[in-house]
Amino acid sequence: MFTNDDSSPDQHGEAGFQALLDAAVDAIVVIDCRGHIETFNRSAEKLFGYSAEEIRGSNVSMLMPQPYRREHDGYLARYLETGEARIIGIGREASGQRKDGTVFPMELSVGEFRDSKTVRFVGIVRDITERKETERLIRQQQERLEHVMRLGTLGEMAAGIAHEINQPLTAISTYAQAARRLIDSGLMEDDRLLEVLEKTGAQAERAGAIIRRIRNLARKRPAQRERHDIARVVDEALRLAEVDARLHDVNLSGTAEPDLPPAWVDAVQIQQVVLNLVRNAMETTPPSTSIMVETLCRSEEEVIIRVCDDGPGLDEDLISEIFNPFFTTKTHGTGMGLSISRSIVTSHGGRLEAKNRPDGGATFSVILPTAMNEHEHGN
Ligand SMILES: Nc1ncnc2c1ncn2[C@@H]1O[C@H](COP(=O)(O)OP(=O)(O)O)[C@@H](O)[C@H]1O
Ligand SMILES: [Mg+2]
Repeated sequence: MFTNDDSSPDQHGEAGFQALLDAAVDAIVVIDCRGHIETFNRSAEKLFGYSAEEIRGSNVSMLMPQPYRREHDGYLARYLETGEARIIGIGREASGQRKDGTVFPMELSVGEFRDSKTVRFVGIVRDITERKETERLIRQQQERLEHVMRLGTLGEMAAGIAHEINQPLTAISTYAQAARRLIDSGLMEDDRLLEVLEKTGAQAERAGAIIRRIRNLARKRPAQRERHDIARVVDEALRLAEVDARLHDVNLSGTAEPDLPPAWVDAVQIQQVVLNLVRNAMETTPPSTSIMVETLCRSEEEVIIRVCDDGPGLDEDLISEIFNPFFTTKTHGTGMGLSISRSIVTSHGGRLEAKNRPDGGATFSVILPTAMNEHEHGN
């Protein structure tokens, strides 16, 4: 009978199964329903630094750092009781701890299998230290590039900014002279002097606000997302852009729908996008035309920043190329503005789209998810 045969499929199966486990590149750990380790393949030995022999029977929580180590028995018990899965059948990024105590990021997927008597869990673990490091480096490079481009933009706006700061300074100086004259005249009216001093203060505030905006954009900083009122974020950018608009003799106006839902964004990055789009618009529109920046929402889930210009519009053949790095039709363009803008918007879980307006000119739309689903976007 084949069941008594020495080369029964079962025996082959057992040895074959072990060979299969050991050949796997990923670490594979099987535990019983109490969390005790039953199987530990060769990759798991290499990854965690324990031999299968020494770890068999131990609680799997010893492969995790705190606080997971402490909490794991509770998770397991709760799952067995309620069937409420946090990781089983889902898979996610987690942390592992080696025998020497070092902690590393891992991708973990967990499956369960049952026979008539009991349930077991199999965990498949992949070390993602390198992937995480690569991601970090890419993010860092991207942040540096964004920063350099922001400085570049500010540099291009320097003449306008200097002019803009000069205005309140001139006003302050004029008010100071007026105050002096009032005092010299001997006919000092307190009310009049107070008014002059208040005006002086307001002008100093105005200059301070411009400098604050510039410093904010010029600062080197890691990306940082918070819940923001997008209308205000856009407004801050427009106040800086206005400086340029006056120099270009372009009429820049911004409108925002009331009560927009907040979005989960890095304000400086979004301002960089708005500045890029407005400056592009400004560079194509003839003098005395208008640029409109509208902030609106079409649904609870999305806020839209729309930049519309009266320029020549986009060459239909080139629409798909304008977002490519280094694509430019300008003699002194970098071709990086739209590429960076798109990557900023995409990293926020949004979209950046370009269209021609039916009556001429171009429209760029930044579509951002609102803060309702903030945790889905990696923050
Ligand atoms: N509002 C616009 N109207 C027409 N063309 C535009 C507009 N914005 C961008 N473009 C086109 O997209 C190209 C790429 O823009 P961008 O990435 O900002 O680089 P740069 O401004 O340095 O050229 C521009 O050179 C231009 O041809
Ligand atoms: Mg540009």
